[in-house]
Amino acid sequence: MSADRLSVYEAIRLRRDVRAEFTGAPVDEDTLWRILDAAHRAPSVGNSQPWDFVVVRDPVTLRRFADHVAGKRVEFRDALPPERAATFEPIKIEGIVESGTGIVVGYDHDRGGPQVLGRATVPETGVYSAVLAIQNLWLAATAEGVGVGWVSFYDPEFLAELVGLPTGIRPIAWLCVGPVREFQTVPDLERFGWRTGRPLSEAVHRETFGETGFNAEPSTTNARVVPPPRT
Ligand SMILES: Cc1cc2nc3c(=O)[nH]c(=O)nc-3n(C[C@H](O)[C@H](O)[C@H](O)COP(=O)(O)O)c2cc1C
Repeated sequence: MSADRLSVYEAIRLRRDVRAEFTGAPVDEDTLWRILDAAHRAPSVGNSQPWDFVVVRDPVTLRRFADHVAGKRVEFRDALPPERAATFEPIKIEGIVESGTGIVVGYDHDRGGPQVLGRATVPETGVYSAVLAIQNLWLAATAEGVGVGWVSFYDPEFLAELVGLPTGIRPIAWLCVGPVREFQTVPDLERFGWRTGRPLSEAVHRETFGETGFNAEPSTTNARVVPPPRT
C-alpha cells in the first residue's frame, strides 16, 4: 500500500461534496477501478450487494443529464420563499459536465433472493446497504485526491431511462467524480449561508434521547492509531 495515501480519519475529515473544484481532467481507469472496488467491499444486508454502478462518460449523456438537473434546480428555486431563493441562487448544485465522469448507483431490491437475511422487518436496510457503498466510494476517492459530488435533483424515471436501467433497478444517486484542485474546508451550504451543521455533542444521546451531550468532547484530531498485530 502506498504510504502517501490518507488514513481513514484523514479522508473522513478531508471529504467534501464537490461541485466547483473539478480540474476537468478525467479520473484515470485504474483509480476509478480502485474506488469502485472500495464501494463493492461495503457491508450489505444478507450479503445481498444490491448495488450496480453505471459509469457515464459520453459528453452527450452528461449534457442531457445536466440540462435535466438545471430544470429541476429552477423548479426548486421557484418554490422557495424570496429570501431563501436569494440565498440559494449562487449555490452550485452539480458538476456533471466539469467532472467528466458520472457514476449512477442503481439499487435492486430483488437482489439476494426472496429471503434476505436481516431485511424482513426493516426493508430500508437494502437501500442503507447501497448508501454504504457510496460512502466507501466517497472516502476512497478522497484518499486518491478525487472529488465526488452527489446529485439528487432529478426524476428517477428520467435517469433510469437515460442510462438504460432495467425494470426493478432504481437509481439512487448520480455521483460526479473527477480529480480536484482542492477540497474546500467548509461545506458549500455553510459557506453560502444555506444551512450550518451542528456539533457532535448535540447528536449524541446517553441511554435515552432526552439525555444529550458529553461534558468534554473527545479529541477528534488525535485519533488512536491501532498498531498492526504482531506476527
Ligand atoms: C443523499 C444526498 C443527496 C445530496 N444531493 C445533493 C445535490 O443534489 N446537490 C448538491 O449540491 N449536493 C447534494 N448533496 C451534498 C450535501 O449538500 C452535502 O453533503 C452537505 O451539504 C454537507 O457537505 P459536505 O458533504 O461537503 O460535508 C447530497 C448529499 C447527500 C448525502
